[in-house]
Amino acid sequence: MPQSQAIQPESSPYVLGTGQDESVRLGLQHRLWSAAAHALWERAGVKPGQTVLDLGCGPGHASLDLSQIVGPAGRVVAVDESASFLKQLHDQAVARKAHHIERVLGDVQDIGTVLSEEAGQIDLAYARWVFCFLSRPEDVVKGLARLIKPGGKVAVQDYFNYERSLTLAPRCEAFSRVISAVGASWRSRGGDTDVMGKLPGMFLKHGFEVTSIEVVQRLARPDSTMWSWPNSFWQNYVPRLVENGFLTRDDEAAFHAAWIRAANDPGSFVLLPPVFELIATRR
Ligand SMILES: C[S@@+](CC[C@H](N)C(=O)[O-])C[C@H]1O[C@@H](n2cnc3c(N)ncnc32)[C@H](O)[C@@H]1O
Repeated sequence: MPQSQAIQPESSPYVLGTGQDESVRLGLQHRLWSAAAHALWERAGVKPGQTVLDLGCGPGHASLDLSQIVGPAGRVVAVDESASFLKQLHDQAVARKAHHIERVLGDVQDIGTVLSEEAGQIDLAYARWVFCFLSRPEDVVKGLARLIKPGGKVAVQDYFNYERSLTLAPRCEAFSRVISAVGASWRSRGGDTDVMGKLPGMFLKHGFEVTSIEVVQRLARPDSTMWSWPNSFWQNYVPRLVENGFLTRDDEAAFHAAWIRAANDPGSFVLLPPVFELIATRR
């Protein structure tokens, strides 16, 4: 990548960071999970001409896909707290002439006021892997109650039971230690690896019906495409866990040894964190 396009690090509260490494990881992650996202959007009934909100859009991989579905007669409003991610989305949108993507820099927990002029205008709000990083998830739901049209939808993909589910087979203590550290680090910033367990109740409380709750459970074997999902996460995040005191250097070394062993063992697999899918409908 030429220097002029390099992504500048910024100070961001997002626990995984907003640098080049996380941006690349989010791109890979989107590719691996895009079929599930498209299936969810289809179940939520997204159509040309609609106005769609992408909450915590990151570099905007989902926003760009959604912009193709709603078409130029529709709009995508992409919100993130990272100016760096929004700049990447801007560059991609310009390259694709997707002029109907609007970028909004802000905290999704204040979405009801940040987008107050959109009250009752939104057909669909989408949030993937965002609620698990928030300390005030209910404020998002309250805000969405103001923004979504009656009959409009919210589609969420997020975690529940993350720390108990994500397992290396055969079981391995060094791996489990890293998973506990991931959970502890997210909680230290107000996040919640169990958030999807609480969201249905929040939507019901704030004027929505819970239309569906489903789960996608996948596993990765060392020679599978999906192996690159956990692999890219460890590459980016395990060093941060050490830097921030959630793991020791010895924990890191033991984890890497276990991961390399597993990668070379055709009998091993990773039970990936289940991704829960919620569709809520505004009453
Ligand atoms: C795991 S990434 C997911 C990005 C995107 N939704 C996707 O699925 O590719 C989480 C995103 O949420 C954003 N985020 C986290 N907390 C936020 C907040 N309070 N307000 C706005 N964005 C937030 C981060 O900046 C990051 O882009």
